[in-house]
Amino acid sequence: MSSDPVSSREQFNAQASQYAASAVHRHGPSLPVLLDYAAPLPQDRALDVATGTGNTAHALAPFVASVVGLDLADLMLDHARRRAQEDRQTNVRFVVGSAETIPFPDAAFTLVTSRHAPHHFLNLDRFLAEAHRVLEPGGRLVVADQISPTPAVQAWMDPYQTLRDPSHHAQRTVEAWRALAEAAGFVWTQDTLVPYRLDFAWWTAQSGCTPETVQRLRAHADALGEAERQAAGLEYDAGGLLVAHIEQMLVVRLEKR
Ligand SMILES: C[S@@+](CC[C@H](N)C(=O)[O-])C[C@H]1O[C@@H](n2cnc3c(N)ncnc32)[C@H](O)[C@@H]1O
Repeated sequence: MSSDPVSSREQFNAQASQYAASAVHRHGPSLPVLLDYAAPLPQDRALDVATGTGNTAHALAPFVASVVGLDLADLMLDHARRRAQEDRQTNVRFVVGSAETIPFPDAAFTLVTSRHAPHHFLNLDRFLAEAHRVLEPGGRLVVADQISPTPAVQAWMDPYQTLRDPSHHAQRTVEAWRALAEAAGFVWTQDTLVPYRLDFAWWTAQSGCTPETVQRLRAHADALGEAERQAAGLEYDAGGLLVAHIEQMLVVRLEKR
């Protein structure tokens, strides 16, 4: 369950080309919900934290004045820059930096987003404090991230996810998210869950798992009882082979009042 920013950078730099080509990440169903909650305006100055190959930054760009995409992984940002050039987006730029020490002054933005990334952050409380700091009063933070339905599922899920991707850190419950967001000073205004069905073969290939890691993941899952499998969203075929799991993405709009 532990990782450090270097392992996130290494993990995503190593998978950058695969990630850039992934339709699940580029067009996955959390993105339109995030955009709806963000309600981007022509005067918005947006920051997309842990932008990766820039999926959310590119989606916001046509609707706002400017977008900065921030990420630790420089090779992910290379793909993001290339795509912005191909799409002739001139109001987007990409900067190397950490979610926990955002390299911008207070009140620099009116909209902050972060999609499918906060479960990698070592200090979610620091990210939330930083997002709050760089937002203007009246600004909003819109997050999409995978959650665990209960603390018991999280205790099983974090080692499972970390085995597959060593840069995974913590897949919190909605209640834990809410407590941290409110402690950082945000008002929780809107939320929903968006389910993703992730094919096991695709999911393990996407993060570069070796055959040995795939076997260890199967063993970790197979040790669960039926009720626990259901709670964790695991899907088995008739022959008893793990084929997929359902990951619930929390999309939430937080406001700085
Ligand atoms: C699963 S990708 C999500 C990318 C993108 N937001 C999207 O929706 O496609 C996670 C990204 O988080 C970045 N990341 C992880 N920890 C970070 C941190 N502490 N600060 C900045 N970026 C981080 C990784 O480098 C990676 O590019």
